[in-house]
Amino acid sequence: MLDWRELKILCHSCTRCGLCETRHNVVFGVGKENADILLVGEGPGEQEDLTGEPFVGPAGKLLDDMLTIIDLDRNSNCYIANIVKCRPPKNRDPLETEQEACIPYLRNQVALIRPKILICLGRIAAQRLIDPDFRITKQHGQWVEKNGVWMCAIYHPSALLRDVKKRPETFEDLLSIRKKIQELGIPL
Ligand code: URA
Repeated sequence: MLDWRELKILCHSCTRCGLCETRHNVVFGVGKENADILLVGEGPGEQEDLTGEPFVGPAGKLLDDMLTIIDLDRNSNCYIANIVKCRPPKNRDPLETEQEACIPYLRNQVALIRPKILICLGRIAAQRLIDPDFRITKQHGQWVEKNGVWMCAIYHPSALLRDVKKRPETFEDLLSIRKKIQELGIPL
């Protein structure tokens, strides 16, 4: 396992998959490095690629608002990362091979952060981290404990921008996350 400094250096020079050829920036992750809560998205979009920070585009603005509802904030009490750290062209889903190449970096981040709660943002993260057959429409908001970490998935903020009808269910899921934070005695 690498420490934060070593891991950042390695990620920023990564050529493990083809995404390195089109990226402007590696989007390493942001937040409190020993946060109790980790959120994992899919992969950087255009704004993220240009700035090097996750969830800074329209979906990111919505994510920040969602976090505020449950007293979370990217700068003070959670960490935000992605399954792949470089932007897939035209925002396509990251390929299986790209996810495989990149996932060891996220695993190293998880080992360093040691979160108590891990929230998958959308299907891609849920299928990679919770269950390959994960059905986001059916299983969002359901909790599983894996290796001592409580995990659940919610709809991706981009899906909530496209389809506002999903928002009430997501509000319930956010309340369930807030409850889990309280049950585990996590100070915010
Ligand atoms: N969507 C993601 O999944 N991750 C980001 O960082 C931005 C948009």
